[in-house]
Amino acid sequence: MTLPRPGRVPIWNPRRCGEFEESTFRHEPKQGRFSVTATIDFQGDSESVLPLARRLAETRRLSLALAEPLSAEDQVVQPMEDASPTKWHLAHTTWFFETFVLKPHLAGFRTLDERFAYCFNSYYEAAGPRQPRPKRGLLTRPSLEDVLRYRRHIDAAIDAIFKTGVVERNRAVTELIELGINHEQQHQELILTDILALFAAQPLRPAYRPSRPSPGTSRGEGTGPAR
Ligand SMILES: [Fe+2]
Repeated sequence: MTLPRPGRVPIWNPRRCGEFEESTFRHEPKQGRFSVTATIDFQGDSESVLPLARRLAETRRLSLALAEPLSAEDQVVQPMEDASPTKWHLAHTTWFFETFVLKPHLAGFRTLDERFAYCFNSYYEAAGPRQPRPKRGLLTRPSLEDVLRYRRHIDAAIDAIFKTGVVERNRAVTELIELGINHEQQHQELILTDILALFAAQPLRPAYRPSRPSPGTSRGEGTGPAR
């Protein structure tokens, strides 16, 4: 990836980030799960960027929705070397926006924790060293709660960059955000396939979601696991 040079951008006050978090997100611990109800909504400073801002917000919301049926433990385990934990996918897609959009293009941006770059880089050589892929399942820290806080921090900064006018003025930033949306959508597919691999190895045969009755069958008929 070739990254554009940072241009002149307005100063962003990072202190706004914390205020934004509390009013926009609600965490609800329930039944041993760390459930997240997110109302991510990016606002642009002009009509021209609103469609992009809305698609990005929808994409960010969907990632959390895909993780919603999972327990914290489900989101940490790596079922095989070629698969990654859900928690890692949630953090890695966030790291992408931080590294390629916010750090170079949002003046005054402050990272939540510099160490996360090592944990959540995948294979971008220019972005520095990284946790080996086969060992992503060893990342019990940062915790799931910390990763969700990381997402909120970055979502607040994304909201801020849309309001600076940078996205509208700098075509390279628009393209990077578009790339970040596509990248996160690819990882949403991976979240589902990796959870499938994880649950297939479980002796308790968990279901990702309750099965729905097939059309033309009585409720639940033919949709349960084989015994
Ligand atoms: Fe990736």
